[in-house]
Formats: sequence, structure tokens, C-alpha cells
Amino acid sequence: MDASSLTKRYGAKLAVDDLTFSARPGIVTGFLGPNGAGKSTTMRMMVGLDRPTDGTVRVNGRAPHAHAAPLNEVGALLEARSLHPGRSARSHLRSLALTSGIGRSRVDQVLELVGLADVADKRVGSFSLGMGQRLGVAAALLGDPATLVLDEPINGLDLDGIRWIRSLLRGLAAEGRTVFLSSHLMGEMAITADHVIVVGKGRLLRDQPMADFLQEARVETVRVRASSIGQLARLVEGAGAAVELGGDAMIVEGLSSDHIGTLAAGAQITIFELSPQSASLEDAYLALTRESVDFRADDHDGRLGHAADMSSDEGAA
Ligand SMILES: Nc1ncnc2c1ncn2[C@@H]1O[C@H](COP(=O)(O)OP(=O)(O)OP(=O)(O)O)[C@@H](O)[C@H]1O
Ligand SMILES: [Mg+2]
Repeated sequence: MDASSLTKRYGAKLAVDDLTFSARPGIVTGFLGPNGAGKSTTMRMMVGLDRPTDGTVRVNGRAPHAHAAPLNEVGALLEARSLHPGRSARSHLRSLALTSGIGRSRVDQVLELVGLADVADKRVGSFSLGMGQRLGVAAALLGDPATLVLDEPINGLDLDGIRWIRSLLRGLAAEGRTVFLSSHLMGEMAITADHVIVVGKGRLLRDQPMADFLQEARVETVRVRASSIGQLARLVEGAGAAVELGGDAMIVEGLSSDHIGTLAAGAQITIFELSPQSASLEDAYLALTRESVDFRADDHDGRLGHAADMSSDEGAA
């Protein structure tokens, strides 16, 4: 799936701003960005539900609306799905299946796959948020599509559900499918996605292998407690590291725990604690997207007016 100069304007609002990226088969691509970054808008254009103002999207080599049997080409889970509350999960899926000539046995298969087989005949109006998400995933899988576009599939899932969807998505990618999903949860994406695309205010901020993102995000520090902490701090600084002393401990940045331990041994200093720590991935992600947050909790009318946009960092890129 390829997006090329993809742009969507709603009146004066540039929701998606010249995005070019690809999601490849065989891997899970995570699509991240703060609220209002343009993720859902991008995904709607990917599945042909919204028309780009400019640029193109190609799914399996074709424009999304050009697909004769869309359920077989691209399976989608989007925001604000409308479900008939009085219908059962099974009848909902059966009516969807009918539109693409998909048989009833496939409906039973996907119900099993998403763990809804036992409640398949219950009214969807009585479903919890997580059950609704599972039903949405079932609908996306119905046509056994080569490409999956899932907008926040983790929302509303409990821990068990999160683990389930993680292994489901990894399995689908391993079968050679293109799996593209959005999320706000950087930590979850770090273990689910192979590749990461980060957007902010409609613009591309990152497009790289997850391993590279994690590597760049990582600030390794070592927490140290030792018999002569002041002396060790001077040795460590002498070796080029930055030290932050606090009480009987120090945090060292720029030197490995092996190196610190060796320095201590050389000076006959007894180490009580030597623990490498990684800066939180969430911190790195927040730092990356901070400049492009569409609205903040203290910005009461950020979504309603455009004043916030004009006064912010529009010209920064
Ligand atoms: N139909 C619409 N009409 C007008 N503006 C819209 C419409 N849909 C989205 N927008 C605006 O486009 C921007 C991007 O919205 P979008 O829903 O794509 O963001 P998102 O990244 O999915 O956010 P979230 O994380 O909250 O789901 C927002 O500023 C939003 O207000
Ligand atoms: Mg969204």
C-alpha cells in the first residue's frame, strides 16, 4: 500500500498534509500520532471512504475505490462504526458477507477467530466496547484480505484482548499480508509493529523500522550506588560521562555499566548497585510529537477554532 503526496483539506483545516509512505506486505506497520494528527482521515482515504484533496493512495497496486470486491482486497476497522444494535454479531457479519459473495462458513470461522463464537447470537447492542472491537476485526477479516487497515483496534480491549490482537496481527503479517494499524500507545506499538510511521498535524514525522526508532529513542543511563560515590563520580566524569548525584546514588549517562564497574574495581570502590536504565519510549515519542499536538488539555477551543493553529508552529517544517 502506497500513499503519495496524500493531502486532505477540510475547509481551512489541512488534516493530512502531503504524506508519502508505504506499508509493505509481511510486516506490521504502526501508524502513530497525537489526537487530530490525521490518522483516521488518512485511513479513510486508504480504504476509499474519503477522497483525497490531492495525492494518491494505492492498495495492492490500485486506487482503493477501483476494487471490485473490496472485502477481499482490504479489510478495514474504522472509527465510529455503525452497527444495528438489535442485530446479532452473526447476522451482522452474514449481511456483510453477502455483499461480497462470502459464504456462511467463513462467518463462523471469523467469529471463532476473534473469540466471539459463544456470543455470536447475542444482540450487538449488548456488546461491551472490547466485544465491539472484536466484531470490527471479524468484519475486517471476513474477505481474507491481503491488506488490513485498522484504526485503533486496541481501544477498549482488556489485557487479554491486547495480547490476542497482537498475536493475531503478527500472524496475519507472517502470512504475507500488509497490516497497517493506528494507535496512540507507543509502548504497545513497540512490541507489535515492525515499522513505524509517526504523523503530527497531518505531516510525516518519522517513517522507519521500529528497531531504529527504539534505538534512537533510547537514552541509556546507569544508576549507581557505591561505597565512595563522590570519588566514583569523579572517575566516571573523567572518563567522559555525565553524572547526576543525588544522595547516596548517581545517574550516569554516557558510560556502560561494565565500564563503570571496571573503574570502581580499579579504585577499590565497592559497588552496591549498578543498574542500567532505559529512558521511557513514551518520553521519546512525546518529545517527537509535542510540537505538533493539535490541541492540549488547556487549549479549550483548539478543535473548534483555528486560532490555535495560526499561533503555533505552522511554519516550523
Ligand atoms: N469530516 C471532517 N470535517 C472537518 N474536519 C475534520 C473531519 N474529519 C477530521 N477533521 C479534522 O482533521 C484533523 C485530523 O483528524 P483525524 O480524525 O484524522 O485525526 P486522528 O489522528 O485520527 O485523531 P485521533 O487520535 O483523535 O483519532 C482534525 O483536526 C479533525 O478535527
Ligand atoms: Mg482517529
